[in-house]
Amino acid sequence: MVWKITKPLWKLLRRRNRHPIQYRNSEFSYTVEWPRFWKTSRTKLLVEGWCFLLNHRELAGVRAQIGGKVYPAQYGIKRPDLTREGSDFPAARNSGFSVEVPVISGRSILQLEAIEEGDEWYCFAEREIVRDATKAIDEVPLPPSRLMVAVAGHDDDDEFRRSRISGPKQMLKDLAIAGIDVGQIADVLDFGCGCGRFLAGWLVLQTHMRLYGCDYNPELVRWCDANLPGVSVRENQLGKPLPYPPGSFDLIYLISVMTHLTLREQQQLVSEFRRAVRAGGYVYVTFHGEPFYEQLFARVENGEEQFRRTGFLIGADEKEGTNDCWTLQSPENVIDLFQGFTLIKHFRASERGPTDVGSWQDSMIFQAKAFSNGTATATAGCRNT
Ligand SMILES: C[S@@+](CC[C@H](N)C(=O)[O-])C[C@H]1O[C@@H](n2cnc3c(N)ncnc32)[C@H](O)[C@@H]1O
Repeated sequence: MVWKITKPLWKLLRRRNRHPIQYRNSEFSYTVEWPRFWKTSRTKLLVEGWCFLLNHRELAGVRAQIGGKVYPAQYGIKRPDLTREGSDFPAARNSGFSVEVPVISGRSILQLEAIEEGDEWYCFAEREIVRDATKAIDEVPLPPSRLMVAVAGHDDDDEFRRSRISGPKQMLKDLAIAGIDVGQIADVLDFGCGCGRFLAGWLVLQTHMRLYGCDYNPELVRWCDANLPGVSVRENQLGKPLPYPPGSFDLIYLISVMTHLTLREQQQLVSEFRRAVRAGGYVYVTFHGEPFYEQLFARVENGEEQFRRTGFLIGADEKEGTNDCWTLQSPENVIDLFQGFTLIKHFRASERGPTDVGSWQDSMIFQAKAFSNGTATATAGCRNT
C-alpha cells in the first residue's frame, strides 16, 4: 500500500536524477550574439554566439533545434576577444558557434544545445522566433503582367499577391481536414506551376518542405528559375514522362491544370504521377465541377446530354494546355481517372464556395496505393515512349 503511493513520486525523482546534465550558472557560460532581433521576415536565420564550460572540461559540439529538426552548428570558432593574457578559461579561445536555421511563418521556438564527449545534449538557450509571412511574400517579385494573365487570367497585382499566400494556406487546411500530417510531407511538386504563384507562398510558409515545380511552358520555367531561389523548377513536355525518378514526391498538386487538358493527356499524366509519387503519397487536384455546369454546357452543342452520358466535356482541345482549352468533368470521371489512387477527400465548391485554390473549382485529394509487387516503379503510359 505504501509502495503504491510512493511509486509515482519515486518514478518522478528517478527521471529527474537521470537528466543528463544540469550545469550551474558557475559552470556554463554563453552568449547568443546574433540575430539582434527575433522578429523577422526572413526564411532563414543565422544564429551566432559563443559557449564554453567554466569547469575546465571541454564541449564537443553545439546544435540548434527548431520545428522538431536538428541543425548541427559549426563549433570551435576562434574568439580571441574572449581571452585575456593569463586567462583562467582557455576553452573560451575556440568557443564560437554559428548555425543557419530555417524559419517557418508564425511563432516557433529555437533551442540551442551543447554536448560533452560521450554525454547527452544539454539545452543552454531558448528563443522565440516570430516570422511575419505577409512581409516576406512581398520580397518575392511579381511576374510581368503578360505571364500573370497567361496563368491566372488577370493582371491584378494585389489579387495575385494575396492568393500566393492564401492558396497554400487553403491547401494546408484541406490536407489537415483530410487527416494528413503535413509534417510528414518532405518533397512537394507543383505540377503546371505557371509563374510560381503558389510556390512563392510555400517558400514563405513551409520551409521544411523541399519544393519542386514543373511546367511545359519554358518562359514560365525561366521566370521561376530566376525569381524563386530555393525551388527546383523544370520543364516537362506534353505526352512525355516527367523528368523525375520514381518515388520522388510525398505530394503532387495541380491547380487549374486538368481544366485545360484532353482526357488522353490527363490519363498519361496520372500514370506518371503514380510513378513519381511515393506509395502512400498524395495528389491534390482541382477540376471544374458543378458551379461550371450551366455555363460550359452552353458552349457545346448537346453539351449537357454529352456530359451526362460520358462525364466529360471539352472545348478548344486543339489548344490543349492553354487557358483557351477548357474541360468539365464529373467527380466519378475524375475518380475513374486516378487509377492506382484512393480518393481521400472531395471538396465541392458548390458547398464551400470559392477559395484561393482554383476559385470555384472542386478539389480532390488522392492517396497512392502501393504497387502490387511492392515497388514504386510503374510503366509510364506516355504516348511518345
Ligand atoms: C491556368 S494555369 C495555372 C498555373 C498555376 N497552377 C496557378 O494556379 O497559378 C495552367 C498551367 O498549367 C501549365 N500546363 C498545362 N498543361 C501542362 C502539361 N501537360 N504539363 C505541364 N504544364 C502544363 C500551363 O503552362 C500553365 O502554366
